[in-house]
Amino acid sequence: MMTSAVTDDETDDSPDPRRDLFPYFRTVTDVSGVIEWTEFFGNDHPVELDIGCGRGMYLFNAVTTQPDVNFLGLELDYKEGRRGARRLQKRQLPNGRVIGGDAREILQKRIQPHSVSKAHVYFPDPWWKRKHRKRRLFTDEFVVMLANVVKPGGEVHSWTDVEDYFHVIAGLMNHAEWFTPLAPPEGHTPQHDMDYLTSFHRRRTQAGAPTFRGRWRRV
Ligand SMILES: C[S@@+](CC[C@H](N)C(=O)[O-])C[C@H]1O[C@@H](n2cnc3c(N)ncnc32)[C@H](O)[C@@H]1O
Repeated sequence: MMTSAVTDDETDDSPDPRRDLFPYFRTVTDVSGVIEWTEFFGNDHPVELDIGCGRGMYLFNAVTTQPDVNFLGLELDYKEGRRGARRLQKRQLPNGRVIGGDAREILQKRIQPHSVSKAHVYFPDPWWKRKHRKRRLFTDEFVVMLANVVKPGGEVHSWTDVEDYFHVIAGLMNHAEWFTPLAPPEGHTPQHDMDYLTSFHRRRTQAGAPTFRGRWRRV
């Protein structure tokens, strides 16, 4: 993975938190109806989603290393989403955007059915406590949402450091009629501080946690 001159620690000191990062960041309420990708990105390149993109390390690296692919980050925490968008704005990168909001609402109301090549869900929060369980992304309903937006032949990639949650994710995906499991990507030993898939991947790996990787094809 490439080294970035942009640090992973951008601060959000903007005077106008609604408009200053447009079109790199917008909220779900700024977007009306279903997104027309050619209008949104200004080209007809394939579109990939980074669901729960956090501060956008994966998004930034993917956008810079794959200029012929459009990447849209979805992030519930506006502050984190704006951090990711700020990095894209600094480099004026045309193929990366972030929408702030609940990914489940965005998937259901803003994304054209079968219009996405890949959906990436990296280090989703496991929310173990029963009272928080409804915040968890991976459920039967979420798998249906993924199946609705990903094209046949497209892929879903999900990594986590929580083994039990990985079993939940793999159980849901492996048993869903719309997906077939693929061999997971090989792990590698990171060579430097930016040589991780995501910020959370770095934080957890440096704390000694393992990484569980899953990949599925939309049939
Ligand atoms: C543990 S962090 C991982 C962030 C990033 N993917 C990474 O690996 O560094 C999980 C992220 O998912 C976001 N998230 C949780 N629920 C979400 C939802 N329903 N819609 C969009 N983002 C969500 C959180 O705000 C948080 O930024």
